Amino acid sequence: MAQAPGFLVTERLVKRFDEALAVDEVSLSIAKGEIFALLGSSGCGKSTLLRMLAGFETPSSGRILLGGQDVAAMPPYERPVNMMFQSYALFPHLDVWENVAFGLKREGMPKAEVRQRTEEMLSLVQLAAFAKRKPHQLSGGQQQRVALARSLAKKPKLLLLDEPLGALDKKLREQTQFELVNIIERVGVTVVMVTHDQEEAMTMANRIAVMSKGRVLQVGTPEEIYEYPANRFVADFIGNVNLLEGRLSVDEVDRCAIDTGVGEIHVGHGVSGTLNMPVALAVRPEKIEISKRRPDQAGPNLFQGRVREIAYVGSYNSYIVVTSDGTRVKITEANTSRQEHSEITWEDEVYFWWSTGAGVVLRD
Ligand SMILES: Nc1ncnc2c1ncn2[C@@H]1O[C@H](COP(=O)(O)OP(=O)(O)O)[C@@H](O)[C@H]1O
Ligand SMILES: [Mg+2]
Repeated sequence: MAQAPGFLVTERLVKRFDEALAVDEVSLSIAKGEIFALLGSSGCGKSTLLRMLAGFETPSSGRILLGGQDVAAMPPYERPVNMMFQSYALFPHLDVWENVAFGLKREGMPKAEVRQRTEEMLSLVQLAAFAKRKPHQLSGGQQQRVALARSLAKKPKLLLLDEPLGALDKKLREQTQFELVNIIERVGVTVVMVTHDQEEAMTMANRIAVMSKGRVLQVGTPEEIYEYPANRFVADFIGNVNLLEGRLSVDEVDRCAIDTGVGEIHVGHGVSGTLNMPVALAVRPEKIEISKRRPDQAGPNLFQGRVREIAYVGSYNSYIVVTSDGTRVKITEANTSRQEHSEITWEDEVYFWWSTGAGVVLRD
């Protein structure tokens, strides 16, 4: 697929604080209209990267291009960019309408235009009926939408969201994720959002950059990052995964095999590596099947072990199976009907297997 030209491009962007490297040679290309997430644990440099895009931090080196224009020398207020912070602090003494209109008035926009734009924004976030309320008279989710309306009021070309839903509890957060995406898509603004919550990134973003220690480890769609993690860190960071360590024993164009403590594992892709090099197979727990009876058709990746732990987690069962060499393998099985009770119990000897297309071999 042809890559759309980057609307927002960073070239080997670096930010150093004294000794510490907060952002380390980050090169990204983000398309117009995209919702792009920076995902990583606390301290990995997400906010610093976002603050450089906004103009609140000066890069130590590297370039930022917005619509083809180098914005390095441009102060924050001249950039067609708006940033919504984690603590989106609305003015408590101003009502909703005044909160949204505030930046427009300060900019010197004519009164009639301020009125029109503010009304447009309030109806966009479906809060027109709440215009006269003060922030403390709104729910957390409503306050969050006021903050979004305020951020969008100046019609920025780029909207930066730093942990936009961080202040909301889990249930409200999930609901608000969809609302936010709907609003963003209706406006068509390009968004870079920061989050440490992988579900939030997967739900909201078109593409995700997984960050660790100032570096971007992988950029891809939620599906790409989940199905084809580039390395152990990404595989482990996103969702649940089994990382089976071993050595490369076969390496052809479209298949390879690795020797692990569990046995020889066959994989349906090559890695262009060197034989005997250390690698890991990443295989998701839901891609592994489990049964007390030996399956008739399992393919080459069929192993045995003993059930050590079982958890019933509502929609699925989760098992830890331990093989004779002590490897722990996590397996999950969907509960498709209420009646269906798994016959597998603690200490059972079981078979487990997965297809050659189910896992990916990781070199790093
Ligand atoms: N103004 C600053 N001065 C010194 N160090 C900073 C400053 N801002 C951030 N850092 C450091 O840079 C690293 C990245 O921080 P940050 O970008 O806030 O991470 P994140 O948003 O991913 O949690 C951290 O180690 C943090 O302590
Ligand atoms: Mg942060």
